[in-house]
Amino acid sequence: MTSATAPLRKAVLPAAGFGTRFLPITKSIPKEMLPVGDKPVIHYVVAEAVAAGCTDILIVVSRDKGSIVDYFDRAPDLERRLRASGKDEAADEIVRIATQARFHFIRQPEMKGLGDAVLQARDHVGDEPFALLLADTMIVDANGRPGSPAALDALSVAHADTGASAVAIEPVPADRISRYGVVGGTECAPGRFALDRMVEKPAPADAPAVRRLDGTRDPGGWAFAARYLFTPGIFEHLARTPPGKNNEIQLTDAMAALLAEEGFSGCRLPGERLDIGNPAGLLEANRRVLSL
Ligand code: UTP
Repeated sequence: MTSATAPLRKAVLPAAGFGTRFLPITKSIPKEMLPVGDKPVIHYVVAEAVAAGCTDILIVVSRDKGSIVDYFDRAPDLERRLRASGKDEAADEIVRIATQARFHFIRQPEMKGLGDAVLQARDHVGDEPFALLLADTMIVDANGRPGSPAALDALSVAHADTGASAVAIEPVPADRISRYGVVGGTECAPGRFALDRMVEKPAPADAPAVRRLDGTRDPGGWAFAARYLFTPGIFEHLARTPPGKNNEIQLTDAMAALLAEEGFSGCRLPGERLDIGNPAGLLEANRRVLSL
């Protein structure tokens, strides 16, 4: 099925989590605000959404994440001070951060998991497809450069072809498979997959398999890679998904239900995912960006 779809306009960035893998600093500093070079991680994630054409950014925050709201707000006193001292370039940069898109914020009242965070976006998103970008994960291209629209572009093309939702996926080795949301399916064109299963954190023996174009199977599996494009149908399934492990609403469960209803594409992530939710990941992201 081919359907003409409107360009992707809205992006949702969940950034409300506790960040327990990065305690104690996340007790008072949101992990999404930790620095990579001279910018917070979430700056690069927003840049990626804007580069892909999103003009409306909804960030899901929580009680202690006010610094994220401040970062994307105008700062007139600072702007005036910078211009008065001849630092116009710095002033322009500060203004650009706040005006590159229309920013909206919503609070997740209780940290009931990623699925619950996405559900907070329901009224704002309404009845159109939207991008979901995990705010603690940067994607860098082959040159180590962040901010490329390539991942969201690939998802948009898949959605335009099928009318269904699409998710970025990447190969992961067998010994790490049980840390991720894992997919099964068939590669139908280079880097494009028709998915048929989704399982959250499977034991290696239960991980679904992906059949490649040449008929081979990877020894490990293929996992979600922090970038998604959803049809609004995801909200109906999220609203029906009961809390699971740790009393959290699992996005993967709602995605599996949506897959059964309208199919789902997987797109090989063009680039590399850097999860900065732990100190080693943040160090690696800094290495990449500072060596550019
Ligand atoms: P994680 O899976 O890394 O969870 O969230 P977390 O709770 O933040 O971190 P750990 O595992 O305890 O260290 C992926 C993204 O989803 C957001 C996070 O802020 C992060 O950007 N998230 C997670 C929410 O917005 N709400 C939640 O309830 C959970």
